Amino acid sequence: CGIVAIAGKEPVPSRLLDGLRRLEYRGYDSAGVAVVDHGRLERRRAKGKIINLQAAIADEPLEGLTGIAHTRWATHGQPNEVNAHPHMSGNVAIVHNGIIENFRELRERLQAKGRQFESETDSEVIAQLIAQNMDDGMDTVDAFEAALKELSGAFAIAAIFSDDPDLLIGARKGSPLVLGYGNGEMYLGSDAIALAPLTRDVTYLEEGDWVILTRETTDIRNSEGERVNRPCVKSAVNDALIERGEYDHFMLKEIHEQPESLARSILPYIDQAAQTLNLDDVAHKMFTKADRAVAIACGTAYYAAHTAKYWFEQKARLAFETDIASEFRYREPVLPQTGPAMFVSQSGETADTLAALRYCRQNGTQAVAVVNVPESSIAREAEAIVPTHAGPEIGVASTKAFTAQLSVLAVLALSAAKVRGHLLPGDEANAVKTLLALPRKITEALKSQDQIREIAQTLTQSKDVLFLGRGRYYPLAMEGALKLKEVSYIHAEGYAAGELKHGPIALIEKDLPVVVVAPKDELFEKTISNVEEIRARGARVILISDEAGIQMAGNRADHIILMPEGDDISLPILAAIPLQLLAYHVAVAKGTDVDQPRNLAKSVTVE
Ligand code: G6P
Repeated sequence: CGIVAIAGKEPVPSRLLDGLRRLEYRGYDSAGVAVVDHGRLERRRAKGKIINLQAAIADEPLEGLTGIAHTRWATHGQPNEVNAHPHMSGNVAIVHNGIIENFRELRERLQAKGRQFESETDSEVIAQLIAQNMDDGMDTVDAFEAALKELSGAFAIAAIFSDDPDLLIGARKGSPLVLGYGNGEMYLGSDAIALAPLTRDVTYLEEGDWVILTRETTDIRNSEGERVNRPCVKSAVNDALIERGEYDHFMLKEIHEQPESLARSILPYIDQAAQTLNLDDVAHKMFTKADRAVAIACGTAYYAAHTAKYWFEQKARLAFETDIASEFRYREPVLPQTGPAMFVSQSGETADTLAALRYCRQNGTQAVAVVNVPESSIAREAEAIVPTHAGPEIGVASTKAFTAQLSVLAVLALSAAKVRGHLLPGDEANAVKTLLALPRKITEALKSQDQIREIAQTLTQSKDVLFLGRGRYYPLAMEGALKLKEVSYIHAEGYAAGELKHGPIALIEKDLPVVVVAPKDELFEKTISNVEEIRARGARVILISDEAGIQMAGNRADHIILMPEGDDISLPILAAIPLQLLAYHVAVAKGTDVDQPRNLAKSVTVE
């Protein structure tokens, strides 16, 4: 979900809508706006995308200088208008991100006092609670603070009040909230992207902070209610990175941005003059004496972590386990004795990954965050941060963040190899050369786009697609399948090529498309044997490989996608490019909503 709020000196509705459009990638089941207009709360809400809300406001225009707005990804209650935010009760309107875990007991208590609820959401209880406190005689700020103390769960809130038209109050606990300073105006947003057209001067609120704003004053309090100062910083959000430009979709733009986003991500970790890796400090601290390491993530970030397992084990001889955050956090896992837990996340806000990080820290394990948002909760709570610098990723399906994660994890694995004494003389300089060549090779890989577009046309009618890979390409096969599922809605599964015969081969029937990710490596011939097995059963093989692999495969593939030559570090990263392009072009050919696929959200701040 996304929040934007303004305490303004000029009318706010169109600017709130503009902010919501920038936040739409965070959720798009429904949206709404509320403003204080001549001492009355006015609200418009609509199911579906922001464009529907815009139409609702065009039908019944809004005015007002103070307002809140929200775009929703449904948790409790269907994505319909009644469940859409803002929620109102009495003099109060609120928007909320996250989950109020104790909403049932609060609701029962408030209902017992005679309050009527109109929605099925957990969020409405916040408005009702504040309104009840005001009915009980508290003033606005005390009513908000008292309500805050009763809420458990993870949330960000913004509230406005009909009888205090200049007042805007926000709170952050578990879900990010950014305060922005304008010229005679104040803003709140879920991230700096929403506020970029309004201001670059922002304060990232800390956990437990809440803030009382008017258009000219700010008063930040901590969870104890004490006034606190938090630094104002210049947000780095740059319009070029959050606008679509000449591209049809953000996903396509972000795929094509990868030569630059990857270069930005690796350069801080390389000393080009000395041809050395620049992460020795973190590597010494975390890996020299490590018995093993764990890496925890969700979705695409998990597949980046899974690819890194091969590098850490083979290069650094470090036992390396990967885990899906939602499984890890409740399993009471046995943690490394002397090694770190690594958390990989684009947003740095994924609730399960954050909870897993907290579990590790409570149990004395050091946390290393590989995140794309340095101000995020995961970044703040980790001992060491190794940021990716992919820039803001707007397409819901992750592309440039994935290759940035892979490249930073590769640097970490190589640095671990170095401090653990597993790099031979010359290996480090070679690794640096490989990494520095990646942006150019990605440009080369992008040249297959026309050919991939043609192959994509042959997949639009498919009900199922299999993706196969072995070794370091196995996680890439799973990521390729995930990408296709996310944006084209075609059922797809990634399998370890060698596991195929133990079950999934039963799925193979005539013309079933099977995408095989297999640049030539020490396991190539084994993968090609698996290709023989599936072709013998009628599958249609789409082989993604380099020149050497394609030569060896001969005529055993129905379609070929050529990728650049590379080594065991660069090839898995390069293999991501054709997989992304394939998913994208199948989706475009099918006419799905590529940047905002149904049911998904970019940043999942709930369990
Ligand atoms: C959501 C997104 C995925 C993403 C996953 C993890 O499900 O739709 O694209 O991979 O969350 O997000 P994170 O921000 O932690 O990388």
